[in-house]
Amino acid sequence: MQIKEIRPIFTAHEVAARIQELGKEIDAMYGDEPLVIVGVLKGASIFFADLVRSVQNPEVELDFVRVSSYGLSDCSSHSVVMNKDVEIGIQGKHVLLVEDIVDTGHSLQYLYDVFSQRGARTLRTAVLLDKKERREVKVHFDFVAFTIDEGFVVGYGLDFAEKYRHLPEICILEFE
Ligand code: PRP
Repeated sequence: MQIKEIRPIFTAHEVAARIQELGKEIDAMYGDEPLVIVGVLKGASIFFADLVRSVQNPEVELDFVRVSSYGLSDCSSHSVVMNKDVEIGIQGKHVLLVEDIVDTGHSLQYLYDVFSQRGARTLRTAVLLDKKERREVKVHFDFVAFTIDEGFVVGYGLDFAEKYRHLPEICILEFE
C-alpha cells in the first residue's frame, strides 16, 4: 500500500494539554490510595509515559502487559493472547489499564476480563483514542483523551507496520 499523506489530527500541544486534564481526573478519582497503572505494549507506551507523569499520587506503581489479537478467518470472532503479564501484585490495589486505541474492542475486553478475576480493589481503563468505526464489542472507558470516527491512526505510539510510533502528534495515514 502506497502512503499518500500523514495528516496530523491532534498536535503534540493538544495531546499534552488533554493528558494534563486526565491526570487531574485520575488524581481526583484515587487521591493517595495505592494504584497500579498498567500500560499495554507497545502502542500505549508513549501515552503511558506522559500520563503517569501527570499523576501526583505518591502511591503509584507501574507495570506493563503485552497482548496480541488475531481476527479469525470468518471475521466473526477474535482470539486475544497475553504475551507478557504484569510482574507486581495487584491484590487489593486499584488498577488502571492504559490503552492507546480501542478499535474492535477485543483487546481491552480481554484485559478487563483477565484483570477483573485477580482481586484488584477496583479496575478502570484509560484510553488515548476511542475509535468507533470498527467496534465489535461494547467496552467501557473511565478516562478517554479523544474520540474519532474513522481512519488509520499513527503517531504518539501508534504504528503502521511498526513505523511512525515516534511521531509526536496523532495523525491519520492516507493511502493512495
Ligand atoms: C493495537 C492497540 C490495541 C489494540 C486495539 O495493538 O495497541 O492494543 O490493537 O485493537 P482492538 O480494539 O481491535 O483489539 P496491536 O496488536 O496493533 O499491537 P501494538 O500495541 O504493539 O501496536
